[in-house]
Amino acid sequence: MQNFVITGGKRLSGEIELQGCKNSTLPIMAAAILVNGKCSLESCPNLTDVYSAARILNHLGCKCSIVGNRGEIDASAITGSEIPERLMREMRSSIMFMGAILGRMGECTFSIPGGCELGPRPIDMHLAALAKMGAEIQDTGGRICCRMPKGRSHGARLSLSFPSVGATENIILCAVLAEGETVINNAAREPEICDMCRFLRSCGAKIKGDGESCIMVEGVEKLHGCEYRIMPDRIAGATYLSMTAAAGGELILKNACIAEMEPFVSILEQTGCFICAADNRIYLRRGGRLKAVKNRIRTMPHPGFPTDAQAVLMAALATAEGTSVFEENIFDCRYRHTDALIKMGADIQVMGKAAVIRGVRRLHGADIEATDLRGGAAMAVAALAAEGTTRIGSISHIDRGYEKFEDVITSLGGSIRRE
Ligand code: EPZ
Repeated sequence: MQNFVITGGKRLSGEIELQGCKNSTLPIMAAAILVNGKCSLESCPNLTDVYSAARILNHLGCKCSIVGNRGEIDASAITGSEIPERLMREMRSSIMFMGAILGRMGECTFSIPGGCELGPRPIDMHLAALAKMGAEIQDTGGRICCRMPKGRSHGARLSLSFPSVGATENIILCAVLAEGETVINNAAREPEICDMCRFLRSCGAKIKGDGESCIMVEGVEKLHGCEYRIMPDRIAGATYLSMTAAAGGELILKNACIAEMEPFVSILEQTGCFICAADNRIYLRRGGRLKAVKNRIRTMPHPGFPTDAQAVLMAALATAEGTSVFEENIFDCRYRHTDALIKMGADIQVMGKAAVIRGVRRLHGADIEATDLRGGAAMAVAALAAEGTTRIGSISHIDRGYEKFEDVITSLGGSIRRE
């Protein structure tokens, strides 16, 4: 088990190129299963979750390699339709592969990854939608077997009770090669879904309405290979902006997706940081003490404030002047990082969905454990602003989503080492 050892109190300064987006790379890798040909992905981030996805693809008989930031996937010779439990367990978003395998092979067997860091993550909406598209589903003690009796799924009109990102992606993946048209009402509008749809359109898929609440997919017979560049990671961007806001200093974020980051940036601006965005770059400067955010920060599906940025912004607001309040509306259990922040001197009270953050003058170093990906990143944000040294354990959580985390922070003048 590795740790990050961070000594805080240094201002950060410099410019960084934003990594490729984890949450679109994973569904795009799954989408490549639908393609009869070679797909080349540029800006593919080097992350443990991406390597787990590559292992699933290779297990299925696809050829997948990642060299530097280029991913190559060729699913022409795919033979398998089962994901073993050990690979399902490596990564919760392995569920993403279900729709694609079913769409290409007409059947798929997998297991549900168990309870997770963020609370229960059921897949009832995914399964109900696939059943409407023709799938017969059998649950045999943890292993789930989905099968299209006619070998191919058919289009359907679907209405989601909540705009789930994963369910929307799985339905699109299953619909692309289906017979007929699929309509998804109350679809999720996250930019990562649009990135996956742009990739699929580059391969010949017929999809309309992504980014809106009603998505239409007209099934086609076959997809062809393509070259595609993955969009930048808006949550990694939010993390490095929060880090600079917390530690003080200035940052230029290059290769930033300005429109997609607007829901986060518009809240961060209220802390008194100077922020300027133009030409795919975001500049942030923090001089004096941060100010608390006056209105309740409610996490909501896109274009609301992203749940994935809740923890990192909370870490920055821990030393702001005044009281900020978060309301977590997406996951039941997404405040697990607060215990570590409290250990570092933060004044945080969690009451159900709400967390009240009374800004303190300073945080201090502590020995803490990362609880989940974004929670772990939030601890690093707090550690860079704190006095003294913090040791963060269980950093495999952080490695799931941040490429060269310590190198990026070191390049900005932060003191961090892996040991
Ligand atoms: C995606 O997870 C992201 N993961 C998450 O990012 C992100 O936090 C989340 O969307 C919300 O934006 C990937 O893209 C790989 P959901 P997903 O289905 O698809 C409930 C990160 O830090 N629900 O929109 O799993 C569910 O329990 C990760 O990078 C059902 O009840 O999210 C949750 O409360 C963490 N039944 C809510 O909906 C279902 O069938 C939102 O989940 C499906 C979901």
